[in-house]
Amino acid sequence: MRTPLSRRAVLAAASAAAASAMLPRRSFAATKAKIKIGLLLPYSGTYASLGNNITDAMKLAASEKKNRLGGREIEWVAVDDESDPAKAPANVNKLVVGEKVDILTGPVHSGVAMAMMQIVRQEKTLTIVTNAGAQPITGSLCSPNVFRTSFSNWQTSYPCAGVMLKDGRKKAVGMFWNYSFGQESMSAFREGFTKGGGTIVKEIPVPFPTTEFQANLSEIASLKPDAVFVFFAGAGAAKFIKDYAAAGLMEKIPLYGSGFLTEGVLGAAGPAANGIKTTLHYADALDTPANKKFREAFKKATSREADVYAVAGYDTIHLLAQALDKVKGDTSAEKDLIAALEAARTESPRGPFRFGKTHNPIQNVYVRLVKGGREEVLGLAQKEADDPAFGCAMAT
Ligand code: BEZ
Repeated sequence: MRTPLSRRAVLAAASAAAASAMLPRRSFAATKAKIKIGLLLPYSGTYASLGNNITDAMKLAASEKKNRLGGREIEWVAVDDESDPAKAPANVNKLVVGEKVDILTGPVHSGVAMAMMQIVRQEKTLTIVTNAGAQPITGSLCSPNVFRTSFSNWQTSYPCAGVMLKDGRKKAVGMFWNYSFGQESMSAFREGFTKGGGTIVKEIPVPFPTTEFQANLSEIASLKPDAVFVFFAGAGAAKFIKDYAAAGLMEKIPLYGSGFLTEGVLGAAGPAANGIKTTLHYADALDTPANKKFREAFKKATSREADVYAVAGYDTIHLLAQALDKVKGDTSAEKDLIAALEAARTESPRGPFRFGKTHNPIQNVYVRLVKGGREEVLGLAQKEADDPAFGCAMAT
């Protein structure tokens, strides 16, 4: 398996997109043309490892399906979105208008996803969101042609409040990257925490993707809360964990968060991560045949450990395979394809998975604790968690 995508490959995809913009729109023909899957993912910057794991897990799942979906050979077209919302309209257009992909997948960054939504709702491109947790995707901007195989940020942050309160921590500081995902994550945590009788002493937004945390850590030390709730992910999360421990805070003020804080970064963070408690819809230690099989296969294919990002990529292809088999690969049968996806089920490495009415996953959320450099599963924070789907007409 080849990763990461080289810069040259990404540029080649971009110029190919420009050239093919002149061609007529693709349509499914009886000849069973290749099925074009677009990947709008970060292959550079702080979220690069997330984009690479999603991509490689999608390719792993595809190889289990002999690289065919609904009888059609897969053609991948990848664009490095650089986790940059300002570049998102051009990047989405490269794939949707230029490459005329049959199905668009990605992105990681919620801000990129918000820009993407405007285009795919208009173009009616079948889109599978493989990470970004922004609420509006399956809330106020929900759309029949958009599905999400990852999570909404409410699902991963709200349950953390209950876990913290159960541990007897009543006064919390929140700290997060200040863009849509971090803001919504903080808001979901605040909702649960204050409802349960907790008090938020201070909220500290940090510009994305800044990793200069020192001044904020000094402030936290002086505020002396019972605990801290944070959202950081990828390389930035590893840096935060190490800084928090180096500031001597880990023993004094317990650290909590949605599971992105520790996901995929335990190697880089090292012993500093021990003791962090998080909530997430996946844990590498889940003791199920599906998870063991997946983790072994991913390790064999990439020489890396799988994580929650890889799980979403893997499930995306298996769910698409089921739906596309039902319509015999005919992506122009839009209504039937959407209905087939709505009915798709998978015994995911994360546990049972099905789409809810708004096309967001209904899935278990686990409580996890880092111990001895490993993520232990302490139990369920929420069984079959659905999303509140704020403002989605499809929810009624
Ligand atoms: C987001 O922007 O939605 C996101 C990024 C990284 C991890 C989790 C969520």
